[in-house]
Amino acid sequence: MKTFLIATRNAHKVGEIRAILGGEFQFLTLNDFPGAPAVVEDAATFAGNATKKAVELAQWLAARPGPRAAGLSVLADDSGLEVDALQGAPGVHSARFAAVDHLKDGNTPDADNNAKLLRLLREVPAEQRAARFRCVLALTPVGAAPVTELFDGACEGRIDLAPRGQGGFGYDPLFIPHGFAQSFAELGEATKNQLSHRAKALGKLQAWLGTQAT
Ligand code: IMP
Repeated sequence: MKTFLIATRNAHKVGEIRAILGGEFQFLTLNDFPGAPAVVEDAATFAGNATKKAVELAQWLAARPGPRAAGLSVLADDSGLEVDALQGAPGVHSARFAAVDHLKDGNTPDADNNAKLLRLLREVPAEQRAARFRCVLALTPVGAAPVTELFDGACEGRIDLAPRGQGGFGYDPLFIPHGFAQSFAELGEATKNQLSHRAKALGKLQAWLGTQAT
């Protein structure tokens, strides 16, 4: 059975990926590898960061002594929010948006990131608050001379005037997907997993995996 190491400690991302890819695969996460190196996400693009995470972890796993699951691949997700009125920010800085101007390391709490986003958009009227989530998945097999495959997805929408809903994570309480009146945090997991940037990228990954089956 194909096994993916999902290269994140974000339990929400893991849950979404497992729910969308389903029972056909086996999943490990970074929690199964406490010694895994922390990858510095300093690339200028989602594709660059996703590739960096997948390749560095696949190299670390390949060099590690001991048995390894057959057919193990690293699946890394890099994702974020782009807001048109902010010229694409927070973009690759989505996870640490609240601290990005202070040169501080590490992610910042979702509530702080959302508060900063609302503050920057305070004067921007509803019809000019277009935004999208983007996701790039990088898949790198663990082994000799691995080739990394990339799959991307986007979900168009807008940023609301105040947070709404308890579900999801990150900017979900502020993001209203196109064609809906509720935020991702209000729509719930099942609806989000049909519409989201991650769902679209995972759909492309699934289609590609279908072409690889022997
Ligand atoms: P990453 O873990 O470095 O890819 O950072 C992703 C960041 O983008 C998260 O911490 C969230 O702030 C934001 N983000 C990505 N995907 C989503 C989503 O599906 N909903 C809400 N926020 C998201």
